[in-house]
Amino acid sequence: MVKKKTCVFISGKGSNLKNLISYSRDKSFPIKISLIICNNNKAEGIKYAKRYNIPLILVNTENKNSDNKILSQLKNYKISFICLAGYMKIISNKIIKEFRNRIINIHPSLLPKFKGLNTFSRVLKNKEIKSGCTVHYVNNKLDAGHIIYNKKFFLIPSDNETTLKYKTQNLEHKAFPQAIISIFRNR
Ligand code: GRF
Repeated sequence: MVKKKTCVFISGKGSNLKNLISYSRDKSFPIKISLIICNNNKAEGIKYAKRYNIPLILVNTENKNSDNKILSQLKNYKISFICLAGYMKIISNKIIKEFRNRIINIHPSLLPKFKGLNTFSRVLKNKEIKSGCTVHYVNNKLDAGHIIYNKKFFLIPSDNETTLKYKTQNLEHKAFPQAIISIFRNR
């Protein structure tokens, strides 16, 4: 099997990046993480580039030219698939056009509920009985692309933002790889 050369975009902790790297070491996993793009030079997740010897590109997304820089690096590394893993910046139309149906994102709620930020506080405020995470394709509307896969859990009365985050991230580490497997099984 020829693995798809994949770029993971991050801005923070990078636990999903680390998890995808570890899955991608399995020879039957459909992607290889060939590049990491990060728009925050203080992101904890940067360390995984060095640890696993994966090229890292830091971009300043405040810079007008950042889209062109990103696109040229994606081309440079022959990237054909993109995973957004905690990337805190909206992907521009220019990049979406180039990579139509080849960019996916993981979101910490059961979409279409709770798009955007601060999902855990909104889930609690809304007294939801269940929550979870969703992997979806990225289009030009926020957290609104076609849903590929989700995973859910039921809330308990003692849940707070910390426990919800913990439970959600545990599910994310299963859902993201599972979604990727299902995409390439069907292609
Ligand atoms: C995840 O909870 C993801 O759903 C959201 O950002 C978070 C990233 O976490 N989009 P990490 O950096 O992968 O640990």
